Amino acid sequence: MRTPFVVGNWKLHKTIAESLALVTELKNQLASLRDVAVGVAPPFTALHAVARRVEDSPLVVAAQDCYWEEKGAFTGEVAPGMLRDAGCAWVIIGHSERRQLFGETDETVGKKVRAALGAGLGVIACVGETLAQRDDGSTFAVVERHLAGAVGGLDPALAERVVIAYEPVWAIGTGRTATPAQAQEVHAHIRAWLGRSLGAAAAAAIRIQYGGSVKPDNAAQLLREPDIDGALVGGASLAAADFVAICRAARA
Ligand code: 13P
Repeated sequence: MRTPFVVGNWKLHKTIAESLALVTELKNQLASLRDVAVGVAPPFTALHAVARRVEDSPLVVAAQDCYWEEKGAFTGEVAPGMLRDAGCAWVIIGHSERRQLFGETDETVGKKVRAALGAGLGVIACVGETLAQRDDGSTFAVVERHLAGAVGGLDPALAERVVIAYEPVWAIGTGRTATPAQAQEVHAHIRAWLGRSLGAAAAAAIRIQYGGSVKPDNAAQLLREPDIDGALVGGASLAAADFVAICRAARA
């Protein structure tokens, strides 16, 4: 019922030429893949070129952030409508790196999610606890706070365009992935929260990705869990062979 969705978050990597080389390989190698939705999130500078390159393929393009206003005196910001204009269908919002390094808060995440959905984009809203929060037993409380800020009070009819990415901060870029059981436990908790907040139909439709050191050798076990509906992949999305292997694992 939920088509798995695997997205490569390229973070601050790749020139336009490098982006085109990678996405062209992905397009060719994934041409025969069925029943898995695949996206890439290049840096802003490569979005338009990548989007044009994939327009005749099922690959979709995501931005890594956006602002909540459509225009005005906001130097350096990029509006959701501009992302659509560049060919994006999705935007990642509230990544832990933006929360930790760039002052993103639950409030700004909420404003961005609403603006992006209002502009017609799909949203990948990121939630997840730090190691200190996991150790002191506040994982569920932190995740619920992030969820409330990001999608609390949303119109359940938007569920098809809402994806939650559970990314435990201690698993990002560390090589230390959550075990399938650890991830599934939080994913089930997220789905239950979605059910209470947005209703059963929305909770059943919203895809919940896992992110944090997803690699070809651990993807299949993670993606086999009932509430893990895809992956948000960082480091392993920068090389075509690894990312393709992860996309294939989402189908198996
Ligand atoms: P890594 O896959 O490099 O751990 O990054 C995960 C991530 O932050 C994806 O958004």
